Amino acid sequence: MNLSSEIARTAFQARISGVGSYLPTITLTNSDLERMVDTSNEWILERTGIQKRHVCPSSETTSDLALRAAQAALSKAQLSPQDLDAIIVATVTPDQPLPSTACFLQAKLGCRQIMAFDVVAACSGFLYSMNIAHDFIRAGTYRHILVVGAETLTRMVNYQDRQSCILFGDGAGAVVISKTQSSESSSCIMSSQSVSSGAFTDILQVSAGASRFPVTIERLEARQNLIEMQGREVFKSAVQFLRDTCLEALNKAGLTVEDVDWFLIHQANLRIIEAVAKQLKIPIEKIPSNIREVGNTSSASIPILMSEKIEDGTLQRGQVILMAAFGAGLTSAATILRY
Ligand code: UT7
Repeated sequence: MNLSSEIARTAFQARISGVGSYLPTITLTNSDLERMVDTSNEWILERTGIQKRHVCPSSETTSDLALRAAQAALSKAQLSPQDLDAIIVATVTPDQPLPSTACFLQAKLGCRQIMAFDVVAACSGFLYSMNIAHDFIRAGTYRHILVVGAETLTRMVNYQDRQSCILFGDGAGAVVISKTQSSESSSCIMSSQSVSSGAFTDILQVSAGASRFPVTIERLEARQNLIEMQGREVFKSAVQFLRDTCLEALNKAGLTVEDVDWFLIHQANLRIIEAVAKQLKIPIEKIPSNIREVGNTSSASIPILMSEKIEDGTLQRGQVILMAAFGAGLTSAATILRY
């Protein structure tokens, strides 16, 4: 297996030095949803693979979830908040429209004055952020970057829309990405790919609350400040975007599907994951999933899954992992690394 010439050429590599996650203890089960909308446990399980999601308590915000995931990741990396050179938070459910959730997190962690900003790329946000961090590290700009995916999506879900309210949950996942010297055998990020297509902005959106449609009483009453989704359209595009992005990332790394030990795919819908597996001929046993217990946590989905699968011993140092996501935009991203 060879690293692509693009990656082997650079002096510095980026490796994951710590991973952590946090899920609130309150849960919302399919049975709970049966009492809220016209749906059934059987329908939700069969069409999505989801049985329950976690819900952030009303006393907490996205940066509180991010804080716990970040502390866990820093502990695994054996680093303190003072060691961080930058913080990137991927979220579509920030603490406030302004300032960034990354700044709230920075204050809660007690970091030095360092760069901190949010990335809005919906469910691809965590991988977009990883890919940005990867480039900062390869350029030699920073040594340790905290990358967090954190969401309180249950605050943005329309619990009168049975098609979308069954999907989403809250949670946070974090990684510390650290600078290391180039070496073909050591742990490093091998390739990254981030794309978007603005031709699909209307199939998954929150339309009200910003410059295009400022908040008005009428728009709040029409629930335009909450998630609106064309499920079937998103489903079709998701499979296509995930397939193409995975292939591009594999191509950039000079790898094939057979070279990859584990595929961590955005936990949006089990049927989307199965369709991608079929198209790319990936054995389903190589695709771990936690969607049944966690639901779709958008940008937090992949780092939560990664953290859980490291904790239970599934993911081991030295293995090749491909992570891939898609989301509103439409956005799509993939990162391949040797863990
Ligand atoms: O991170 C990205 C976030 N978004 C996604 O990943 C969404 C991707 N799309 C999906 O996951 C699926 O499209 C859904 C799970 C949202 C819907 O599943 P589907 O198999 O595409 O169902 P459908 O929209 O084609 O609807 C089939 C039927 C409809 O009834 P009729 O018109 O056939 O009578 C829906 O009204 O299922 C009905 N339906 C439901 N029935 C029970 C839709 N939602 C529900 C529900 N419970 N919760």
